[in-house]
Amino acid sequence: MTLPTITILTPEELPITPGRSLDGPDKTIVSDIINAHGFVLFRGYDSASAEDFHAFIECFDLPNFTYSESFSNAVRHNRTARVFTANEAPPEVEIFLHHEMAQTLSFPGQLFFFCEHAADSGGATPICRSDLALNTLEANHPAFTAKLRKLGVRYRNSMPENADLASGQGRSWRHTLNVASIAEAERRLTSLGYEYRWLRDGGLSVQTPILPAIDDFGRGREVFFNQIVAAAAGWANAVDDDEPRLCFGDQTRIESADLKAAIAASYQCTVDLEWQRGDVALLDNLRVMHGRRPFTGSRSILASLCSPISRSAKVI
Ligand SMILES: [Fe+2]
Repeated sequence: MTLPTITILTPEELPITPGRSLDGPDKTIVSDIINAHGFVLFRGYDSASAEDFHAFIECFDLPNFTYSESFSNAVRHNRTARVFTANEAPPEVEIFLHHEMAQTLSFPGQLFFFCEHAADSGGATPICRSDLALNTLEANHPAFTAKLRKLGVRYRNSMPENADLASGQGRSWRHTLNVASIAEAERRLTSLGYEYRWLRDGGLSVQTPILPAIDDFGRGREVFFNQIVAAAAGWANAVDDDEPRLCFGDQTRIESADLKAAIAASYQCTVDLEWQRGDVALLDNLRVMHGRRPFTGSRSILASLCSPISRSAKVI
C-alpha cells in the first residue's frame, strides 16, 4: 500500500503574483503534481486573509462553483464571492472522508483550502487517495465492489427546516434547494429525480436518484467517488427519519461489514495535512477525498470550489 504524498510548493519554486495568471509552464508544474498525487500544498506565500486567498486562487483561472447553487449539506458562510468557511460544525465533530458533494448530481472538479488560523491542537485535513482506497477495498472485498459498480448507490439525508449549526450537515432545506416554499422544493426535487418525505418537525427527508459509486471520469483510472464513508460513519438519522442513510441503487441493504471495510480501506490510504497559517492546498476532487480531524482552539479553514461538473443519474 502506498500512502498519499504531500508535495509542497514555495514561492522560490513557483512564484505566484496576485493579479497575474500563472503562465503555461507554471500551470504545468502544478498539474504535474496534481496528476501524480491528487493534491498540492502551497506554503510560504503571503496570504493572510480571505481576500488574499481569493486573489491567490484567481491566478489559476479556474471557473467558480457557487455554494448557493450546490446541494451541499454543510452550513457555510461566504467571505468573498468565491471563498467561504469550510464547515461550521463544532470542533469536536469529526468530518469523515468524502469527495466534495459526491452524493449529488453536480460537484466541483477541484477545490482549494486556505488556513486562515491553525487550531491549537488537532484540526488536520486527512486526505485519501481514492484510487488506492478502491484498490485496497477491492483486493479484500471483490464481491462488494462488483455490486457497487453494477448497482450504484442511493443516499438519504434529512434537511432541517432551519439551519442546525451543531451538525456537519445542518443546512436547511430552503437553503440547500435554493427555494422559498414547500411547493417549489417539491418541484425542484422531482425534476432532479429525488424522492422525498416531509418530516413532522418541518424537516425534509430526501433520497437521491441512483448515483455511480465507482467512476473513472474518462481518465482510465477508477476512483471510489461516492459519499459512502461519510454517510456510513457520520450521517445521523433525524427524529422521525430512521431509514438507512445508504443503500444500493436497487434499494437493497448494504451490509455493515462492507461499510466498515470501505471506511477502513479509505483511512488506510490517508495522510494528515497539518496546517500552518497561510497554507493553501489545491485538491483534485475526482482523485482524493478529504475530511476534518477534531480540534481545539479557533481553527479557521476557508474553502473555494472550482470547475463544476454535472452527471446524470445511473440507470440499472
Ligand atoms: Fe468537504
